[in-house]
This record gives sequence, structure tokens and C-alpha cells, in this order.
Amino acid sequence: MKNNTNSQGNALLKTLRLIADPIKFLDSYNQINQDSFVVPVLGINSPPVVFFNSPEAIGEIFTIPSEKFDFSRATHVFRPLMGDSSIVLQEGRSHQRLRQLLVPPFHGERMRYYGATICEITQQVTQKWRSHSVISLPQYLPQITLDIILQIVFGFNTGERYERMQYLLTNLLEDVTKPLFSSLFFFPPLQQDWGDWSPWGNFLKRRAEIDRLIYAEITQRRTEFDPERTDILTLLLSARDETGAAMTDQELRDQLVSLLLLGYETTAGSLAWAFYLLHRHPAVLAQVRLEIASITPPSTNLDPEAIAKLPYLNAVTQETMRLHPIALIGTPRMAKVNLQIQDQALTPGSIVVPCIYLAHQRAATYPQPQQFQPERFLTKKYTPTEYLPFGGGARGCIGSAFAMYEMKLIIAQILTQFELKLIDPKPVKPVRRGITIVPSGKLEVAVTPLPTTIAK
Ligand code: HEM
Repeated sequence: MKNNTNSQGNALLKTLRLIADPIKFLDSYNQINQDSFVVPVLGINSPPVVFFNSPEAIGEIFTIPSEKFDFSRATHVFRPLMGDSSIVLQEGRSHQRLRQLLVPPFHGERMRYYGATICEITQQVTQKWRSHSVISLPQYLPQITLDIILQIVFGFNTGERYERMQYLLTNLLEDVTKPLFSSLFFFPPLQQDWGDWSPWGNFLKRRAEIDRLIYAEITQRRTEFDPERTDILTLLLSARDETGAAMTDQELRDQLVSLLLLGYETTAGSLAWAFYLLHRHPAVLAQVRLEIASITPPSTNLDPEAIAKLPYLNAVTQETMRLHPIALIGTPRMAKVNLQIQDQALTPGSIVVPCIYLAHQRAATYPQPQQFQPERFLTKKYTPTEYLPFGGGARGCIGSAFAMYEMKLIIAQILTQFELKLIDPKPVKPVRRGITIVPSGKLEVAVTPLPTTIAK
């Protein structure tokens, strides 16, 4: 009994440390150089949670057929926001089908359509900086990435519906990152609708208004269907499954909301890290500026395709996400059968966690792993099990190519318009915000508009 109390106490302590300061918690395992480790979590019948960080183990996890895992234990928290039909909550055939529909719009040739929109939105949002001497990056970067999703994914045009959506989403998503509000999603017994003044009732009311706007957009776009439009909703409206059936309104709504929730704060957070790191490493910043200037004559607009191909800017973006992955782990998955992953024998019920953060901190793969060294991406090509800011395997991020493209364009657009200087010279800390790890504090910068650029 005493032993049981001790181990429960130990599990409680570890669980609290993991929640309160996940980076410190993971670093403590990094110091002892373990390729995998079991973290006891709370609850007498809690399954063992096993973290893996070696490329070999991660490779095995990503190639184990997904029917041997149950993903819903981790993804169920997204259900109230994303909806039952969300890609994130699907398993097996229905998950594969949604990936087949959603992956192509975010890759290859299609990206060309989005470049000019990304640059224009960045210009519009940062236009406001011209009347300020100091701005807070975490205030503006999500405005840029939210507008990008609303226009490129939803195909919203400016107007009343668009502005109302912007307002409602910004407020709701801000609240979702607050610990008290977010605990509602983790503990279903708290999900009680006692009217508008109860936290859950209030959430349901706000969600219903957002849904009304999304459904109104879907209805309008079905009735005025225009196949020439390049947004992702248009592609989904025309998609058919193998039986020839189109997606229902609810299926469409759930995918749109999922793309929004997974694609907007993640990209804004990674951008915040990129600007922070660039402005703490003046030599790197100077080299990026030089590289962009080499293909962008003064007083011209950016050429998105040429920017996306710049090797050093690409290396800076990659190294930012290596050093500060926005998601510390890939989707945890529960073993349905006995599995052997490297030296760990797992019984059904065990939770398998591919640890992105620790994979990126391995000194054998990345010498001086705590240093920001974009050059490492110029001299070496890393495998998808060594470098995985977007996770991998059957559940890997579907927006990875789009996010990389978007980040490079936003960085280039801002650097060609402004000179920025960090107000606080002290280093920031990685802190949790919802499901992402972002720089602490307001990340304020002094802004000086550059004279040579023309705004459109
Ligand atoms: C810098 C930006 C981003 C980062 C760092 C990021 C990272 C991730 C990670 C780590 C996962 C889990 C992967 C796994 O379990 O192996 C994921 C899943 C996902 N991401 Fe992203 N993401 C980003 C941007 C986006 C964008 C722009 C979109 C789409 C608009 C998007 C859509 C998704 C979707 C739909 C999934 C779930 C895929 C599935 O369950 O099959 N992400 N992302």
C-alpha cells in the first residue's frame, strides 16, 4: 500500500512537471542520453507512456501499420472544437480517405496560386506598423496567419461575414489557450451546459455562431459554385469519394475548422521564433537580408517562387523549427497489440510518443544542438526521422509544405519592408500556449520602415 502511495506520488510529481514545464522535463531525460524512457502518469490503471527519440525508433513507429494503434486517446480533446468528422478524429479507411482529399491542395503546383495572396496579406497587416514605433510580434503574426487561412482555405473574401469570423475566432482561440478554459476540453465532466454564463454554455454559444457563419458560406458557395476559384473549400466541394458521394456540410465544416486550428497558431508561433532568433543573431539576419536583396531589386514586389527557393532563408526556417519545434511531440498513439520498438516491449494499452523535441536535440545528429546554426541545413541533409518538426508517418502534418512556403514569404516580406530591433535584450523562454510552445513575453520590437520598398 505504501509503495503504491509512493509510486502514485512519483507519478503525480512527474505529471505535474510535464504539464508545468515540459521542456525542462524533457531536458532532464536528454541529460541522461536515453533513446527511450517510460513516464509514469497518474491513475492506478494508467498505461505506461513511452517516449522515443532515436531515428531508428521513430522510423519504426512511423512505419508500423496504423491499424495497430488507436489515436483517439490523444485526439479526443479536439472533438468539441473540430467536430466528429474531423480528419484528426478519424481512424483507418476514413482517415486515409480524408488525407487523400486534403494533402494535394497543400502541395506542389497549387502553391503558386497562394504566393501572391500570402505577400499581400502580410503587407496589409504590417501596414499598421508604419504608424507605430514599437509593436508586439505575437499580436500581429497570428493576424497574418489567420487571414491567410481564412482566404486561402475558406476562400472568404473581405466583407461582413469575414470580419465577424475574424473577430469570433480570434477571441475564442485566445481563450482556448488559457489554462482554465482549456481544462474544459481535457475533462469531459466539466462540459456542462448551464446556460450562457457557464463556461461550457458560453463556449457552445460562441461555437454555434462561428458554425452559422461557416455553414452560410458553404451554402452560398454550393449555390454559386465557381470551379475557377483556387481556395481549398472549392476543391473540397467538388471532391467525390469512391462511391461518387460529395462531402456533407458537416464534414466540410469539420475539415475547415481543423485546418484552421492546426494551421494558424502553429505557423504564427514558428514565425515568432524565427524573428526572435534572427534578431538575436545579427550575422544570420544580415546574410538573409543579402540573399533576399540579391533577387529582389529595390522598389519591386517579391517574386514568391524565387523567394521560396532561397537556400539560406530555407535553412533559417528549418533550423528555427529544429531548435524550437512548436509541437514537442507527434500524436501519441495507443498500442492495440503487442509491439516491439527497439528495446521496448510494449503491451496493448501502452502509449507510444515520438518525441520531436528530443530527436532535434541529439548531439550525435546535430553537433552543439542548443546553438542556432542554419548552416547545418546547407551542409547536411537530414532524414525524416532525424528532422521532424511536422511529425511524420500516417499522421504527419498535411500542411508542412504550405507552412514552410508561407513562413519564408512572410519573413521575406517583412524584412524587405522593415528593420526590426528587439526591445528586450534578455533571452526569452519557451512557454506553452495551447498545444504550441512559443517564446515567452510580448516579444516587442522597434520598427523602422525601410524607404526602398513600395507597398502595393
Ligand atoms: C509551422 C507550422 C506547423 C507545424 C509546426 C505543424 C506541426 C504539426 C504536427 C507536429 C502534427 C502532428 C503530426 C504527427 O502526429 O506526426 C501536425 C498535424 C496536422 N497538421 Fe500541422 N503544423 C503546421 C502547420 C499546419 C498547417 C498550415 C496546416 C493546414 C492548413 C496543418 C494541418 C495539419 C493537420 C490537418 C494535421 C493532422 C493530420 C492527420 O491527423 O492526419 N498544419 N502538424
